[in-house]
Amino acid sequence: MKTPSLPPTEHQPRQYAGPTAAEVLALRKQYLNPGIFLYYKQPLMVVEGAMQYVWDETGRRYLDGIGGIVTVSVGHCHPHVVAAANRQNEIYQHSTTLYLHPNVAQFAEKLAGKMPGDLKACYFVNSGSEANDLALLMARAYTQNYDVISLRNAYHGGGASTMGVTAHSSWKYNVPHSFGVHHALAPYPYRGLFGYDDPDAGRKYAEDVKQLIDYATPGKVAGFIAESIQGVGGFVEFPQGYLQHAYEYVRAAGGVCIADEVQTGFGRTGTHFWGFETQGVIPDIVTMAKGIGNGCPLAAVVTTHQIAQSLVGKVHFNTFGGNPVVSAIGKAVLEVIEKENLQVNAHQLGLHLQAGLAKLKEKHQVIGDVRGRGLMVGIELVKDRTTKAPASGECAQVLETARDLGLLIGKGGLWGQTIRIAPPMCLTQADADFVLEVLDESFTRL
Ligand SMILES: Cc1ncc(COP(=O)(O)O)c(C=O)c1O
Repeated sequence: MKTPSLPPTEHQPRQYAGPTAAEVLALRKQYLNPGIFLYYKQPLMVVEGAMQYVWDETGRRYLDGIGGIVTVSVGHCHPHVVAAANRQNEIYQHSTTLYLHPNVAQFAEKLAGKMPGDLKACYFVNSGSEANDLALLMARAYTQNYDVISLRNAYHGGGASTMGVTAHSSWKYNVPHSFGVHHALAPYPYRGLFGYDDPDAGRKYAEDVKQLIDYATPGKVAGFIAESIQGVGGFVEFPQGYLQHAYEYVRAAGGVCIADEVQTGFGRTGTHFWGFETQGVIPDIVTMAKGIGNGCPLAAVVTTHQIAQSLVGKVHFNTFGGNPVVSAIGKAVLEVIEKENLQVNAHQLGLHLQAGLAKLKEKHQVIGDVRGRGLMVGIELVKDRTTKAPASGECAQVLETARDLGLLIGKGGLWGQTIRIAPPMCLTQADADFVLEVLDESFTRL
C-alpha cells in the first residue's frame, strides 16, 4: 500500500481549543436541520484553511480538492481577500441600496468589465438560488411569457422556483413547484442518446428543446436556463454546438437565454472566464455565485440594460445584496484572479489532471468516463463499462480512502457515481500529482 505525501507548506495552523468533533456532531444533531447530510463515515471537522489546504481539529492537513463545493476560487483565506474584508469591516459594514456607497459601484464596474456584449447591468444577491430566482422573474417580466425550458440533470437551487428548474429527484420535495417548467434531454454524451462519437450530437440534443417548445408550450417561452457545465449532475460538459442551437430555438420562440455560471464562472474552466464562452454563445442573463465571493455569501445576476428595464416598474430590493463588505471581497477576488493568472493555472493544471486520469482509466476498469475542463474534473464510475451501471458504493469508498490519504474530493450525479474535483485555482502541479497518486491508490484499494 502506498501513502502519497502532501506537498510541503509553510503555513502553521493555530492550536485548536474549541469543542471536539463529537461534541459538534451532537450539537448539530440537536439544533440543526435534520435534512443536511455529512460526507464520510467518520465526519470530518475542518477548523482552518490556507489557500489550497485545510486542517482538522487535530492539526491534520488535507488538500482541498473540492473547495467547499466549487466555491473557494482563489484560495482559503487568501491574504488579499482577507485584507479587503478586514479593512471594510473596520470602517462600515452595512449600507442599503438607498444610499450611495463606492464599493458596490466599483465592484459592478469591474464585474461588468468581465462580461461580453451588452451584459452590463448587475444585480447583487446572496446565493445562487436567489440569483436564479431573479433571473427567472426577469425572463418572465421581460418577455411577458411564462414557460421555461430547463435541462434534466440540472441543479439551480433549493428555493421554490429554482427547485422547479432543478431536475434531480433527490432535490425535489413532493410539493407543487414546477409550473410552466419543461425539462429537455440532458446533453450528456456519456449516458445520453448521442455519444462522444457523434459529431452532430450538440444539434441533435438541442432538437429536443425545439420539440418541447412545439409540443409542451404555447409556442412562446420566457426563457431557457442551463448550467454551462452541469455541476451537481457530475460535471457534464455539453457537446459543441448545443447551446448555440438551443439558444436559436429559444430566441425564435420569444425567450431569453440564461446561463447559470454558479460553478463554471470566474476562470475555473481554464480556457475561458465564463463557461458559456466554451460554447461560443452570449446569453441574455448570467447568474453567478460560489466562486464570486471565495466563500462569502455573494451572488449576482448580470443582464442587458434593456432586459433590466423590465423590472423597474416595481421596487427590486435586496437588503444585503452587494453590501460594502461583500463588494470589497468580490472586487478583491477578481483582482487576485487577474494578478495571479489563475485562469491560466486552471487551464494548465486541468490538462495535467486529465492526462493523468486518462492513464488511470486504462488501469482501473471502474472508471467509465473522465471529463471536464480546467479545474472542474469529473470521473464517472461504473460497475461495468458496457452496461454503465452506476458505481455509487465504489464512489463513496474512493471518497473515504482519499480522505484517509489526505485528499478531500466531492461527488455528484443522480446516483452519486461521479467523483468531482474542483480545488481552489491556486493549486500547484505538485498538488495535482498528489491528487493523481491518491486517486490511483484509492482505486487500487477498491
Ligand atoms: C449550478 C448551481 N446553480 C445554483 C446553485 C444554488 O446556489 P446556492 O446554494 O448558493 O443557493 C448551485 C448550488 O450548488 C449550483 O451548483
